[in-house]
Amino acid sequence: MASSGPRHPLEDTHWPTAEAYAASWLARPLRLASGLLLRDRTWVPAMVPWRASDEGFVTPAVLDWYGRFAAGRPGTLVVEATGIRDVPSGPLLRIGHERFLPGLRALVERVAQESGGETRLLIQLLDFLRIRRRPERDRYLREFLVITPRIREGLATLGSDPTAQEAALREALVRLDDRTLATLLGPRETEALERGARERVTDTHEEHIAALPAVLPALFATAACRARDAGFDGVELHYAHAYTMASFLSRLNDRADGYGRTLEGRLRLPLEVYRQVRAAVGADFTLGCRFLVDEVIAGGSTVEDAEFFGPRFADAGLDFISLSRGGKFEDARQPRVGEAAYPYTGESGHACMPTVFGALPPFGLNLGLMARVRRAVRASGRTTPIVASGGISTFARAERALVEGEADLIGAARQSLADPDWFEKLRTGRGASIQRCRYTNYCEALDQRHLEVTCQLWDRLPATPGEPRSRDGRRRLLAPRGDWSAARPAGQAPSAS
Ligand SMILES: Cc1cc2nc3c(=O)[nH]c(=O)nc-3n(C[C@H](O)[C@H](O)[C@H](O)COP(=O)(O)O)c2cc1C
Ligand code: SF4
Repeated sequence: MASSGPRHPLEDTHWPTAEAYAASWLARPLRLASGLLLRDRTWVPAMVPWRASDEGFVTPAVLDWYGRFAAGRPGTLVVEATGIRDVPSGPLLRIGHERFLPGLRALVERVAQESGGETRLLIQLLDFLRIRRRPERDRYLREFLVITPRIREGLATLGSDPTAQEAALREALVRLDDRTLATLLGPRETEALERGARERVTDTHEEHIAALPAVLPALFATAACRARDAGFDGVELHYAHAYTMASFLSRLNDRADGYGRTLEGRLRLPLEVYRQVRAAVGADFTLGCRFLVDEVIAGGSTVEDAEFFGPRFADAGLDFISLSRGGKFEDARQPRVGEAAYPYTGESGHACMPTVFGALPPFGLNLGLMARVRRAVRASGRTTPIVASGGISTFARAERALVEGEADLIGAARQSLADPDWFEKLRTGRGASIQRCRYTNYCEALDQRHLEVTCQLWDRLPATPGEPRSRDGRRRLLAPRGDWSAARPAGQAPSAS
């Protein structure tokens, strides 16, 4: 979180009466091509809250988290990025094996119960490549760096015996000052030292990376079948941000095996994944994807690429397209030793989760680019619904985006975290009591440290007896129920804001 004050005040707004809301575009139902009926145009995009167990299982805290969103009865709720492989992934929710099914079924049941069956529930399916924590310098040189002939030769020019045992060469490296060391290391070795090693889809010299197009379609398809068996209404294929599928779509993807370089090549695997998933789950199971309107990194994809991809995804038969922007590793801040790079710390990260500290106000910041992708889809003759997101927290902005054809569904992630009841308050004409997101990214700072995500507006309010707290005991894990607009932390005077 930035230390200086917000540059941008929250937008002035007005809230509709219950009657005005009922007549609004936001309240209009929408039937997807799969047949799924969404009660209205409200949508909670995926958010990882770090509540799964270390083995990736649904925990009671996961059930409470989604139950709390469901109580506000959004039209659609997307469960956080969930790993499709059966590999240890820390406290990331997983769907890569049958043993995850009972927990996921409980999650589906909880959402149905809390929303009175009104909220449609999707789950976001994720594949990611390995990223290591930034190592301690000398440990990297002693244990992880591969001593290549190039490094031997470089050391020889500095006076080392090139035929020396590897251990002696490593000690010679440890003794070098940083500047001299830098002259011996290649760009990837420098990255591994300074930021932690990170695999890329372009590392096709690695067998498992070369094999991604062969293995991923089946992995996604099996995971999607599990989601269907668990009772979800559909899945969202995660083709956005810093992860495997987004890296295939990226302009930086120069794979030479037909899965990179050209627009068609970059799109090939995402389409193959989609087709195999569709063949596995059938036409009546909702299947969408989330991808980027702009990567916001040097040499990365821009909205022109997205305008090409959108119509092709629509043509392939996706039931919805959810859009996002940025969120990449390439421009992430250098992590501290022992921590991994986090893809929401650079300019691309700020584009993904815009704040009031940025140069531009965060409100609806990405709508213009998203509207361009929607227009490209419409121009191709398709009516595939487009989900927009990024700083949307007022009825007026949401309604304008729908009326002006910038989007078909309104994604509101942090606003829904700030006040999970805001949809219900809108419906019932109680907009004035909505707790508005401040867009300061306190929540995102917790996400970055893999701490349980909460919101600054409510995590210091007095807890209801028996309610679970964060692991350090200091924060509520859930937004209070009922109208808490007047509540404040014990001992604190009412705030003027
Ligand atoms: C704590 C947190 C976790 C997030 N996790 C995911 C995720 O798992 N998958 C995803 O596609 N986006 C994720 N996002 C991004 C949001 O879905 C959304 O695109 C972004 O916050 C911008 O929307 P907003 O301005 O309405 O918050 C996350 C955002 C936050 C704040
Ligand atoms: S902590 Fe709460 S108010 Fe702040 S950005 Fe996150 S959701 Fe919004």
